[in-house]
Amino acid sequence: MLKSMLLGSVDWAVKPFPSVQHRLTDWKTNVKRWAKLKYFASDVVHAKRFMFWSERDSSYAKLSSELLFQFHKLEKGLCIPGKKRFFGRDPVIATCLLVKRWQERGFSMQDPVFIGAVETLRAYRTRLDETPANAEDAPLIHRLLSSCLSLTTEAPQFSTPQAHRRTEGAADVFDRLCRDRRSVRSYASIVVPLPLLHEAIATAQLSPSACNRQPWRVHVYRDAAQIKQMLALQNGNSGFGHLLSTLLVICADSRSFFDASERHEPYVDAGLFAMSLILALQARGLASCCLNWCVAPDVDAEAHARGELPEHEKVIMYLAVGYASPDALVPRSPRRDVGSMMTIHGA
Ligand SMILES: Cc1cc2nc3c(=O)[nH]c(=O)nc-3n(C[C@H](O)[C@H](O)[C@H](O)COP(=O)(O)O)c2cc1C
Repeated sequence: MLKSMLLGSVDWAVKPFPSVQHRLTDWKTNVKRWAKLKYFASDVVHAKRFMFWSERDSSYAKLSSELLFQFHKLEKGLCIPGKKRFFGRDPVIATCLLVKRWQERGFSMQDPVFIGAVETLRAYRTRLDETPANAEDAPLIHRLLSSCLSLTTEAPQFSTPQAHRRTEGAADVFDRLCRDRRSVRSYASIVVPLPLLHEAIATAQLSPSACNRQPWRVHVYRDAAQIKQMLALQNGNSGFGHLLSTLLVICADSRSFFDASERHEPYVDAGLFAMSLILALQARGLASCCLNWCVAPDVDAEAHARGELPEHEKVIMYLAVGYASPDALVPRSPRRDVGSMMTIHGA
């Protein structure tokens, strides 16, 4: 009350001086903008709570991420070209110790992450025949490898590395998918079949991610009342939100990351996943529209409550999904000239 009275009288006092009035308006805008920097504080708190691995925390989320992170160093090391040399002392030890923790926690040995770890350890042990570890490290490495590999007696289902497959003749299809994909804001009242959604999500899961940790999570909403509640927190769906019978919320699990140096990875990884998903949906005749998640921390918390989202998941974006109505229009949305965003260095 006092603040608005004070500001009102300042506005009145500077009215006869247009240049002062402009500067005052700029200043007010900047103060509002600067105040939003406080939002970073909630990111810091979130990172401190969830982006941290420790031996004391053997939850599935952290253990599986750490296991992927460590054995990925070995699986990619096995593919490095050029003269072969010994590599991977620390990651092989770390992977073996994580495999042991996995076993102690009783997690499934049929889990794709565990199977991947074991198949990598097996390939790494074979590679040691060619490029042995030094005499000091060899006994420990072999002892750990033997004990891990004796955990599974099953015949290997997969092997790593594999030959790279080059894609031929798909440019036309891919370019058409990219051209035809548009943000659609007019949807028919046909419900999206869940199996189709499942298929598209499975394809999108092939997206790259930092050390293959696949931190993305997808929450699927099909209940009209819940969709309405979720959309009420988002500022970019007016005029078409009510037409949606499927809403996705794409999140990233912060527990996949070891510390705050990885603070951007949730957005990068889940963003790549989102793009693949959008194209996979388009390839199946479904339309979509990304819906920004540029909200204040209290709105984010409310979305977590309404959407039953775990607190360790960061919302990356909402995604509207559906069949475009037959008469749907899309804006042309021109793209910048390629030359304006591409810089060729050193040529
Ligand atoms: C992260 C992100 C957030 C977006 N948020 C919204 C939104 O809230 N509402 C909306 O109608 N469109 C939204 N869009 C869609 C963009 O407006 C659209 O992608 C852009 O204008 C290009 O058009 P096109 O997707 O049809 O090629 C968003 C897109 C992205 C990538």
